[in-house]
Amino acid sequence: MDLPPSFLLCFAIFASSALFLFIRRRNNSIKGKLPPGPPGWPIFGNIFDLGTMPHRTLTCLRDQYGQVIWLRLGAVNTMAILSTKAATELFKNHDLTFAERTIRETMRAHDYHKSSLALAPYGSYWRVMRRLVTVDMLVNKRINETAQIRRKCIDNMLRWIEDETRKIRGDSNGNNGIQLARFVFLLSFNLLGNLLLSRDLLDPDSKEGSEFFDVMTTLMECSGKGNLADFFPWLKWLDPQGIKRNMKKDLGKALEIASKFVKQRMEDKKWSENNNRDFLDMLLEFQGNGKDEPAKFSEQDVNVFILELFLAGSETTSSTVEWAFTELLCNPETMVKVKEELSRVVGPNKRVEESDIGNLHYLNAVIKETFRLHPPIPLLVPRKAMRDAEFMGYHIPQNTQVFVNVWAIGRDPEVWDDPLLFKPERFIGSKIDYKGHNYELIPFGAGRRMCAGVALGERVVHLVLGSLLHHFDWELGGNVTKETIDMQDSLGITMRKLEPLLAVPKMRMKSAD
Ligand code: HEM
Repeated sequence: MDLPPSFLLCFAIFASSALFLFIRRRNNSIKGKLPPGPPGWPIFGNIFDLGTMPHRTLTCLRDQYGQVIWLRLGAVNTMAILSTKAATELFKNHDLTFAERTIRETMRAHDYHKSSLALAPYGSYWRVMRRLVTVDMLVNKRINETAQIRRKCIDNMLRWIEDETRKIRGDSNGNNGIQLARFVFLLSFNLLGNLLLSRDLLDPDSKEGSEFFDVMTTLMECSGKGNLADFFPWLKWLDPQGIKRNMKKDLGKALEIASKFVKQRMEDKKWSENNNRDFLDMLLEFQGNGKDEPAKFSEQDVNVFILELFLAGSETTSSTVEWAFTELLCNPETMVKVKEELSRVVGPNKRVEESDIGNLHYLNAVIKETFRLHPPIPLLVPRKAMRDAEFMGYHIPQNTQVFVNVWAIGRDPEVWDDPLLFKPERFIGSKIDYKGHNYELIPFGAGRRMCAGVALGERVVHLVLGSLLHHFDWELGGNVTKETIDMQDSLGITMRKLEPLLAVPKMRMKSAD
């Protein structure tokens, strides 16, 4: 009997997968006990259990299997951390063991992972890059020096919203309102453009700016897709869903645009009198010892770095502001309280300034409560065990992928009263913060691989949310009410609202001019 080559190929893949998984499972069980978890299918393991909302599915599994659970995602061993207690143990006592990242296949396109800070192995390149970001670029003193840039970008955003409001006012769709997250995304994008490259990327005349924006949006969507090649490494060469091929195309385009920006900016700098140093200057001026750190960054390192900060800083901010608004519009008493505080502290006809932030305690509580219920990166950026480890009485083999489910931790009934209610008051008078020391609230992660942009991220979220709330009055748009609004989320690189929030702004302050 002649068998077609495709059948033989499938059979070979199936048989080798089964053999590989059998041998590995046996080795693991010899070494020690694994955490409990759902049984899973032969070969595929728990891939189908996770679904499109893994943060939610895993939270449901907590009741049955406990705070640390074990999953087999094809060939990838995975541990999920689902409680504050387990997160505390991980970050306090095992942070170094889990300081590596799992690299998804799409991130290998154009060797992106080799120049990335967020995906770098825990070692000298990561250390140098991280120091550059946290000490030279985003230390509080440097952030203070760039307050004018944020002011300009916020004013621009308020003006865009005013223009849009005027445009839709006479419209039959006027009650639909505006898609708020889009405006915040554009603001974050321009803000990073100014900090990194000293320019607005999305001025109406910049074709490349909007092209960059479009390609970045596609990149974010593409990175969120489930890829079989991540679960079965021997399928990498086949790229069965074509995800890496698409990523290669989009990432190539994004890197090309980033490289043009860099070149153009270097040309402009030659002729301009402007002596302000932006992030790109710091990157280009870097001189390492050439031994355990690079002597200089390559062109590829620079382009990836630029791209990465845009990816890390734009959607996280816009999704946080969108969720905060959604909760406030569904909780009118909270909205009244936060606006009343803004009027009292800032003054009724004044703009919110960065110097006001420290006095806006209720606004701060609203932001913490938003981070608790809607962390933008609900499973953090997945970690990986650098070596075999004993963790809470379990044996965790080297290379195990680790999800820290911040979404579940924010709903941990052992720690939070009424965990599902939006109650900013819980943070008034509380010392709990999101700076990586209170493991019940870790939207920026914790430990060595904690977010490198937390100082900038928190400043921008406070300023944007405060400014939007103070400058306009808001109502729910799109003919929805707090009873009918869709609160589902959707997971790409970040977790955003599945149905984008539509909100109707009503002018209450003078124009942002
Ligand atoms: C609301 C805003 C933000 C949130 C919620 C957020 C959240 C996160 C989270 C959860 C991680 C992974 C941490 C871990 O694995 O433990 C991360 C990593 C990172 N973030 Fe952010 N982020 C925000 C804004 C920013 C901004 C504005 C920047 C820079 C411009 C930035 C740069 C980075 C970098 C470089 C990493 C990788 C750190 C490493 O691997 O060492 N983030 N962020």
